[in-house]
Amino acid sequence: MSKGVERERVLVLCALPYTNAVPHVGNLVGSHLPADIFARYCRLKGKETLFVGATDENGTPTEVAALELGVTPQELTDTMYRVHREIYKWFEISYDNFSRTSTPTHHKTSQEFFLKIYANGYISEGVLRLPYCEKDKLFLPDRYVEGTCPVCGYELARGDQCEKCSTLLDPIQLINPRCKVDGSVPVFKDSKQLFLELGKVQDRLQAWIGSNQAWKGQVTSLALGWLKEGLKKRSITRDLRWGVPVPLDGYRDKVFYVWFDAPIGYISATKEWGDARGDPRAWERFWTDERTRIYNFLGKDNIPFHTIFWPGMLFAHGGLNLPYDVVGLQFCNYEGDKISKSKNWGVFCENIPQAGLDPDIWRYYLIGIIPETRDTEFKWDDFKNKVNNELVANLGNFIHRTTTFAWNNFGGEATVDGVAGDEKALIDGVARLGEESLALLGEVRFREAMSKLLAMADLGNEYFQSKQPWKLVKTQKEECARVIHACLMACESIAIVLQPFLPASSAKILDLLGTHDRGVSGLWKHRPHVQLSAKPEVPFRKLEDDQLEAAKKLATKSRPASDYFKR
Ligand code: 2FM
Ligand code: ZN
Repeated sequence: MSKGVERERVLVLCALPYTNAVPHVGNLVGSHLPADIFARYCRLKGKETLFVGATDENGTPTEVAALELGVTPQELTDTMYRVHREIYKWFEISYDNFSRTSTPTHHKTSQEFFLKIYANGYISEGVLRLPYCEKDKLFLPDRYVEGTCPVCGYELARGDQCEKCSTLLDPIQLINPRCKVDGSVPVFKDSKQLFLELGKVQDRLQAWIGSNQAWKGQVTSLALGWLKEGLKKRSITRDLRWGVPVPLDGYRDKVFYVWFDAPIGYISATKEWGDARGDPRAWERFWTDERTRIYNFLGKDNIPFHTIFWPGMLFAHGGLNLPYDVVGLQFCNYEGDKISKSKNWGVFCENIPQAGLDPDIWRYYLIGIIPETRDTEFKWDDFKNKVNNELVANLGNFIHRTTTFAWNNFGGEATVDGVAGDEKALIDGVARLGEESLALLGEVRFREAMSKLLAMADLGNEYFQSKQPWKLVKTQKEECARVIHACLMACESIAIVLQPFLPASSAKILDLLGTHDRGVSGLWKHRPHVQLSAKPEVPFRKLEDDQLEAAKKLATKSRPASDYFKR
């Protein structure tokens, strides 16, 4: 079977961002944007599509961030949830439900999930030696302990995972552990916890991962590599108050480990979507009907959790769909270095809406740096060149020269009896490229899909140039009308395929063209009569240096989190 979406129902999931930070462009291109383009593509193909996400609000990342900021976890998450939601809305990330893991539905869903795997025999009790900071008087979150990775020797490995070799760790495995907040050496204290017996699902995981067709080679080999090491039980509870309470006697004063409840958030967000529509069982179609394909979009540091830990939880639970594709994305750097909020190095989303550029201009550039197969880099020069030379000079130019020509010479109207010859060759050639672009989207190959879209405009520009309608209009007006009609049809196909990429711009172009049928079948329709709905406006304007400078000034300034909590 090919990799494209061939089944009727698709659930698109984006890794749930923590609320201890505001997203930067790396977060956007590393999950939300590709997930959005994919969801829009599925809708365009007429699939029953649901796209959900949420903020990941529980456990230690939130408790520690709140402590550092001097606010309560509730205040922190309420504010940060709103900040995240507004940013994704501005970038037109088309979540059907963007929820939070602090909702009552999520708490209930997580507790029920746990009780099911407990009843199924996958939970054991044990003692965990956890890092405790004597200075701050609290158990430290895994990722707030730093030390040397026992596997690869990397000196700045985090307590939950080594960033260098991606090995999942427990803080106690670190050599020379330190508290990341104050640098002190944590003591390890025994505490009674619950564990997920991952070893019991090892064989099933092995068979499932080995049989996967859709995953990129690098995701599969990473996952198989971890399996080879042999899966050990993993603790799923913590001594904290902020989170989902453990519904089991002897553990009621603890909450779940954040990585236990977070992926259950995918289910909770689906449930809430159904509840809001008065259809509380709708979630079952997505999670229990095997014909649904689930696509998870996430950064590479999240790959082990989505190929091993979460599927392991799903196997332990039983009866729920596993991910069909785990789209693990690489990282995006900024001008030669890693994006870092503390070093104020990067492009930070909070000020982008005020930076004076349309969301689609950002989306266009960002699509080109989606880190599909390797790390990518945001560069302002590149931003300007790509927008000006590709979006404006190629795609925008074809749309604009066609529509203004039609408006100025034919009152925006083009009617033909039928299409044949060069005109048919253009219209069909553009439609074929459009199909190819969409097929690439189906295989989650965004950048190649965008290149095909540009090739559609190339074809249009070449045709326009070769037919010289500005000469034809003086001598052979009827012939000229046929040429312009063909160009308008090509514009329509381009705008149809443009929908998942630049939704607002494509809608404007389709409105101008008076296109009703905006689905994929519209690509192959030869509408004999086109009437533009208004005087055409330039679809994309060239970026000027001063405009870009102003945007840069705003977008590269990260606001300290404390700014959001000034009283
Ligand atoms: O790494 C992170 O940002 C996590 N909050 C991702 C969670 S994804 C999930 F499983 F919910
Ligand atoms: Zn390592």
